Amino acid sequence: MEISRVGVVGCGLMGHGIVQICAQAGWEVVVRELDQEALDRGIGRIGKQLARAVERGKLERGDAEAVRGRITPTLEYGDLADCDLVIEAITEDLDRKLEMWRAVDGVARPDAFFATNTSSLAVADQAAATSRAERFLGMHFFNPAQVMPLLEVVRAEATSDEAYELGFALGETLGKTTVAARDNRGFIVNRLLVPYMLDAIRAYEQGVGSVEDIDRGMIAGASHPMGPLTLADFVGLDTLASIADVMVDAYEEERFAQPDTLRDLVGAGDYGRKSGRGFYDYSGDKPVATDPGR
Ligand code: CAA
Repeated sequence: MEISRVGVVGCGLMGHGIVQICAQAGWEVVVRELDQEALDRGIGRIGKQLARAVERGKLERGDAEAVRGRITPTLEYGDLADCDLVIEAITEDLDRKLEMWRAVDGVARPDAFFATNTSSLAVADQAAATSRAERFLGMHFFNPAQVMPLLEVVRAEATSDEAYELGFALGETLGKTTVAARDNRGFIVNRLLVPYMLDAIRAYEQGVGSVEDIDRGMIAGASHPMGPLTLADFVGLDTLASIADVMVDAYEEERFAQPDTLRDLVGAGDYGRKSGRGFYDYSGDKPVATDPGR
């Protein structure tokens, strides 16, 4: 099936990036958010990224305007009615996702495909809430979606060959490296990356190194682009905590459990970069380590 109109539900950290790359691929994109403020924030981020690309000579001004022109922001599920594909990028909470899918399923065309960008929840559980489990797949992007080359394509039990192949074809159109991942909690990358970030927090709690030294260690010693505590702030500590909860339930292994420091930071509303504070304080010119619990 030819895709020309894509719906994205959620215009937050992941959603806005997915909207941007889909519009850059030439598709019309309808993006739905819960309220005008969240919608404006997401669209504002896309505007900034496009302006930056123009400034750096990576995009013509006219092309940036065309990309922006292909994006239709909305607060109404009904505006997703003509989409060929709807991608979910809302909060990592199964009940909210199920509620959202029921609403989308009620308005979308019967032949439209659905994809979830979940990081850790079962694709099959979400597919089952719709009337079209065979047209439902996992498409897991990485933050920032505009930059990270990977797309995990996830097949649930009921996913048809057509839907599964569509995931790879869309990934190729978006210029992504695609990998096939089983419908287990965390797929491939988070199955490995989440315990790594949690272990870095435990190393900090045990006094193995300071926040900055743990990060510097993994940058200079393992050539990672960011240290694990910066990465945790970047992913969002609330998101990391939700993923950890899902994974510890699924795998029943302590290494997936939330360390106390993560629980405390999330409890205090310190979600990392998106809230301005986590393992680092982002209010100044440069991030400064907050040394939580010390
Ligand atoms: N949105 C859009 N573009 C961005 C961006 C953002 N948030 N951040 C950086 N970029 C772009 C910049 O515009 C720049 O593009 P140009 O070269 O075309 O100008 C390019 O990326 C490089 O940016 P910078 O020079 O500012 O910074 P950098 O070289 O340090 O790269 C980074 C920034 C790409 C984020 C890099 O630090 C990195 O790769 N970090 C690791 C990110 C990572 O591991 N992501 C996965 C998280 S896990 C996940 O997402 C899964 C999950 O389910 C939880």
